[in-house]
Parts: sequence; C-alpha cells; structure tokens
Amino acid sequence: MRSAIYPGSFDPITNGHLDIIRRAAETFDKVIVTVSHNPNKNPMFDLEERVELIKRAAVDIENIEVDCFSGLLIDYVKNKEVNVIIKGLRAVSDFEYEFQMALMNRKLNDNVETLFMMTNSQYSYLSSSLVKEVFKLGGSIEGLVPEIVIKEMKKKI
Ligand code: PNS
Repeated sequence: MRSAIYPGSFDPITNGHLDIIRRAAETFDKVIVTVSHNPNKNPMFDLEERVELIKRAAVDIENIEVDCFSGLLIDYVKNKEVNVIIKGLRAVSDFEYEFQMALMNRKLNDNVETLFMMTNSQYSYLSSSLVKEVFKLGGSIEGLVPEIVIKEMKKKI
C-alpha cells in the first residue's frame, strides 16, 4: 500500500489545501493529513480544532486520516513508516523555502522523498494567513475556505 503524509499548519484549512488533499488521495492509497504543533505561532484555531475542521471539510474523502504532530516532521514520518511527504506549491515564492525544507529533510533521512503538487491555479494566491486577515477586516472569504471554516471563524471574532 502506498501512503503519503501531507503536513501543514492548516490554520485554517483552505480550499487550496483541500484540493491538494483530494488529488493526493487519488494518487496514493492512503494520505495522512497532519497538523503541526508550533508553539511559536499564535494560531486562530488550536490543534484539536484544526484537526476537527479538516475532518469535517474532507468528510467525503475516504482514504485519509487526520492527525497532528510536534517535533520534527521527519521523525513523525518515520514513526508512521511512510516515506513520502506531499507539499503543495503555489508560486515561485513558495519554492525557495520548500526547497530548503525538502533538502534538510533529505539530509535528516534520505529514505523519505518530498513530492510537490502544483496547486490549482484557481487557488494560487490563497493562504491561511491572508484568509484570516481579509476575514478580520470584514472582507468576504466565500469560496476560499470550506463553509464549516467560515462558520467557525465567525464564532472566533
Ligand atoms: O503549512 P505550513 O506552515 O507551510 O507547514 C510547514 C510545516 C509544518 C510543514 C513545517 O514547518 C514543518 O515541517 N514543521 C515541523 C518541524 C520540522 O520538522 N522542522 C524542520 C523542517 S526541515
């Protein structure tokens, strides 16, 4: 069985993430979507909320598991006995940092491959932080994040 891990902050999950999850789930037998615990960030949604939002937004995708992790991604991937990390690329601006992380992860464990999937062009400008900013300033985020996310964001403000 071919499995892959799709990691991220997912604060919150956007339709761009969902598109990558959907396509990764068509390519692999199983996809583990895992939310990173980063104590240095001040997230809008806590870890459990982010996991729950992904589960609800992706309820129709059968071959995924939603989880969370702290510490090094590469250690988590090894513990799960998976050797593929999926990353989404939106624009050239994403490339440099993703390239650094992919090479660092390979240095830490060269049995693990990072695969990049190009985002749907429809979502190439989309990011969780921009969604939060637009929302907080009263702009519409309709069509950019799952409906359930809009509902939960309204409760936060
Ligand atoms: O959605 P994001 O914020 O772009 O996701 C980044 C993430 C969580 C994948 C990255 O920060 C990460 O892998 N964090 C775990 C800590 C780690 O392994 N750091 C070394 C990376 S080479």
